[in-house]
Amino acid sequence: MVLSMDKWVGKVAVVTGASSGIGAAIVEELVEHGVKVIGLARRVELVEELANKLSNQKGELHALKVDISNTQEIVNVFKTIEEKFGAVHILVNNAGILLKSSLLDGDVEKWRKTFDTNVLGACTATKEAISIMRKHDVDGYVINMNSTLGHKIPPISFNVYPASKFAITALTETLKFELGTLNKKIRVTSISPGLVETEIFKTENFTLPGMSEMPIMVPRDIADTVIFVLSTPQHVQVEELIVNPTGTMM
Ligand SMILES: NC(=O)c1ccc[n+]([C@@H]2O[C@H](COP(=O)([O-])OP(=O)(O)OC[C@H]3O[C@@H](n4cnc5c(N)ncnc54)[C@H](OP(=O)(O)O)[C@@H]3O)[C@@H](O)[C@H]2O)c1
Repeated sequence: MVLSMDKWVGKVAVVTGASSGIGAAIVEELVEHGVKVIGLARRVELVEELANKLSNQKGELHALKVDISNTQEIVNVFKTIEEKFGAVHILVNNAGILLKSSLLDGDVEKWRKTFDTNVLGACTATKEAISIMRKHDVDGYVINMNSTLGHKIPPISFNVYPASKFAITALTETLKFELGTLNKKIRVTSISPGLVETEIFKTENFTLPGMSEMPIMVPRDIADTVIFVLSTPQHVQVEELIVNPTGTMM
């Protein structure tokens, strides 16, 4: 199998959750490989800072503000993207949150926010991106940032977060089926990382017992896997990639 990013040079990628962590690392690597990236986030100023930092690279980064838990904002932002940039070739559904809220004492608003962001946001972005891909006759690519918690649950309470990631596992399969019914060759991959050092745990000061001793990856490790799946030839579809830090017990 010949691995190459050449086919994506100058093409348009939309990355959600581009302002920090894994999303920011994915954006950096795509721009380094010559891709025209539209980075979405609420903290759009962080994406703009990243765009300045990457201004000497082969590709480009454009920042647009969106709250991915708001359906209308997603529809509007994809309309803007199509008007400004034309076709969308790659979508990375990366935005996600992990909120502190147990199942026993949980806050239903936090549960709702988790599903609106991690699940429905990804569904709507996928619908809008694929509609543009089909309109412009593009053999595109959708990458869903899943989690090892979307496949098995360790004996630690992550409240509704694993349920939201199990939904991503199911949605990736359903999307694969629906795409198979089209004449287009749009590919879909779920990437499922274990522990990665990002802001996701800091937002609500979420800690795990013994977390500071656990093996952990850096965002660039996961961005490398995105580049790997995008580099595969058009006739190959990596459907699921589970990536853990060496020595993990989770
Ligand atoms: N870190 C890990 O150990 C780990 C492991 C497995 C999977 N993941 C997954 O990796 C993905 C990225 O997370 P991360 O670890 O890199 O965390 P992070 O550093 O907290 O980044 C989360 C990103 O999502 C964006 N986001 C959150 N809510 C949003 C909203 N309502 N609208 C728009 N953007 C929103 C944030 O942007 P703004 O706040 O600027 O809007 C930020 O860019 C998530 O899907 C997460 O579930 C992480």
